[in-house]
This record gives sequence, C-alpha cells and structure tokens, in this order.
Amino acid sequence: MVFLPQEVIARKRDGEILSPEEIRHFIRGFAHGTVSHPQAAAFAMAVYFQDMNIEERVALTEAMRDSGKVLDWSDLDGPVVDKHSTGGVGDNVSLMLAPILAAAGVYVPMISGRGLGHTGGTLDKFDSIPGYMTNPDNAVFRKTVRDIGCAIIGQTDELAPADRTLYAIRDVTATVENISLITASILSKKLAAGLDALILDVKTGSGAFMKTPRQSRELAESLVTVANGAGVKTGALITDMNEPLASAAGNALEMRNAVDFLAGVNQDERLREVTLDLCAAALVLAGKHTSLDAARSQCEGLLDNGAAAEKFGQMVKALGGPADFIEKMDAYLTPAPIIRDVVARKAGTVSAINTRGVGMAVVALGGGRRMPTDKVDHAVGFDQLMGIGEQVGPDTPLARIHARDETSAAEAARRLTEAYDLQGEVQSTPLIADRIMPEGQ
Ligand code: URA
Repeated sequence: MVFLPQEVIARKRDGEILSPEEIRHFIRGFAHGTVSHPQAAAFAMAVYFQDMNIEERVALTEAMRDSGKVLDWSDLDGPVVDKHSTGGVGDNVSLMLAPILAAAGVYVPMISGRGLGHTGGTLDKFDSIPGYMTNPDNAVFRKTVRDIGCAIIGQTDELAPADRTLYAIRDVTATVENISLITASILSKKLAAGLDALILDVKTGSGAFMKTPRQSRELAESLVTVANGAGVKTGALITDMNEPLASAAGNALEMRNAVDFLAGVNQDERLREVTLDLCAAALVLAGKHTSLDAARSQCEGLLDNGAAAEKFGQMVKALGGPADFIEKMDAYLTPAPIIRDVVARKAGTVSAINTRGVGMAVVALGGGRRMPTDKVDHAVGFDQLMGIGEQVGPDTPLARIHARDETSAAEAARRLTEAYDLQGEVQSTPLIADRIMPEGQ
C-alpha cells in the first residue's frame, strides 16, 4: 500500500484511530526526510486535539525509539534499570539512586538531560566535577557500566533522533502540552537505552511540569501503561514538588549535598525517603526482590555502610573525574565569591513555597539557562533552604545564597523572598502521593 503522510494527518485530524503501521510509516518517513516538518507539525496538532489511545501511544513510542540506535546490554549478567524524573528543583535523586542500585547488583546506564526552564538537570550537576566526561566514547561508557554498575552520561545524537526534531517542532507550534506526545517523547529516549526496568518519578506541585495531582496521575498512568506495553517493566511514584526536595538548589551545591548524603555526613529527610522508595521500586521491577520493604532495607544498608558512596567515587574516576572526589570534594568544587544569608522580611512559619520561583532564582544567579546556548555557572545557587512548616526569623534565614556578583545576588534574594509565603495556613501535601506499579507487583 502506498503511504501518504497527508492521509495519516487527515485521519487523525478527523478523530480516527491510526494503525501501528501508519504511525510507524509516518515516523520512519519523518526520520528519513520523506515526511516534512510542516507535516510533522500538522500531525502533532491533530494529536493535540484528538489525542491517541494506548495502542497508538505504544506504536508512536516504539517508532520514535527505533528512529535511532537501541542499546544492547545482552553481554551483562544482570538486569538493566534506569529512573526518569519529570523534573524539579533540588531534585538530585539520580546522584544517589544510580550508585545505590549499582551496589545492589543491577546495571544503570543512565542517560540524563540538562536543566530545562526552572528545573535543574543531572548533567549540569556532573559538569561541576573537573574532568568528568558527560559525553564519553561508547567504549568508556560500556566499560563503566560493566565494571562499576552505573554510568551517568548525556544524550547522544544516535538515541531517538526523531524525538529531538519533533520536540523542537512542538516547542514552536504550541503542541508540547499533550499527554500522548509527552509520553512518547519521554519514553522513546529512555527505551532506546535498552532497559529491562524503569522507575518514573512524576513530580506534582508548584515546581513540577504537572501542577495538580490529577494531571500528574494522568501522565504517570500513561507512562506506566505505555512503557509496559512496549515491553519494559515500569512503575511510577508521584512525588511532591511543592518545595525543593533537597535543601540545596544549584549545580555544585546539589553535588555537595549528594556527596554529603552518600557519605552519611548530612541527609535531607525528604530526599532520603524519595530516593530509597524509588530505589526499592526499581529493584522490585527489575526482579531483584518481590517485596518493596525487603528491597528498601537492602538499599538502606548499602547507603548506610558506604557501599553506594564507594560506587559513586568509582564512577566519577572511571568517567575522568578525580579519584578522591568523595574524600576531597572541597578541593574540587570551587565556591562562589559571595556567600551570605537571605534573611526573611519578618519572623514566621513557612506556609507555602512557590518552587518554580526558587528555580527561577537559581536561573537569575546564572545557575540555569535563559537561552539554550547559555553557559551555566556551576558554583551559584542556594543551600540551607528552609522547608514548609519551619520557623524563620531574625536569627534563622530562609537560605544561604551563593552568587557571582552583587547584582545577581540582590535579584535572586528578592525572588527567593517572594517565593516564600510566611502568612497563610501551612500547606502540607504528602511526600509520596501515589505508587503505580504494573499488575502483580
Ligand atoms: N520532556 C520530554 O522529554 N518531552 C516532552 O514532551 C516533555 C518533557
């Protein structure tokens, strides 16, 4: 049968259900240049209005995954697992989760992203380590995963290229905000990493991509159903982003926070809960445990006995960073020139935080990008961030700011102060709002 892209677009425009073959042909044509960018834009808009059922979403995800290379880990003797977070502020979970899982005997080839808008990105955090290669050659990447168990690196051009181009088209045609397209976009990249199991951290609240629990649940259910439909054991936790997860926000500051966490020097309580619950769910999905409780206590043990810290140090060294990074972090992470408290306007209890505002204050310091080509200042950001329910006042600041210069320090301090509400009723939301696991788990 002759395949005509305009017919596929018209069928979706008119609310019909596309067959997997039609979707495969369309995406293959897009990847090979026989489907034009205007046609892809029209397709995205048709999906935006008419949406896709689960079978169509699975076909779209698989077609986008197969637009490039799919990694093959059949030479490894254990399950291959990864985590994806929909993005937040002070969300440095990956830095602990990958080495904990590696210490538990699964393999974690983690392909991570850079900061987007107000949210931080794992790769930008690793760029604060001198020498660490976020884009190593394939042989180094594979050897690190095989020998150590985890490697956190950046997206390569070879993985799911159709998503990169389609995302750029969606970005300028008002078609990003559609659950079917978001599902296929997120999963095509993760599934191209050749995973056996995937745990998703779908954030909800003022610093999340999905602001309401209903929207977050809808996305989580779509991601879990489609990923399992595409053959990868997948579950999701819906976790709170109504305040930063760690008490630090900013690249080197979150790296410090993670190393202190792994070394047992200081662990933010909410961060520990979310990290260990995600690790436990990942191990159950990977078939290493049948009970979440047993998986969690194994992860606690590997964190508390230093095994996860050791894995982290080995990964940093294998990917070009200093061999003694964990022990001598201060020698490698250069502090910002200005470090000072951000004092609250009045004494009170933190009742709510506009987490997006905290993320934008980090961007104002230069810790995130305003334009895709911007260089990130790794040293800047906040630490000692106060959380909801905590008292602030003349002697207890909202946070400590790390800035490059006085102008950005003043602007970021103003933004942070505005993001903190000290007036209303304390807004408490559950840290882990829901767990969505595939049937039977
Ligand atoms: N993140 C992605 O990778 N894709 C989307 O469509 C939205 C968020």
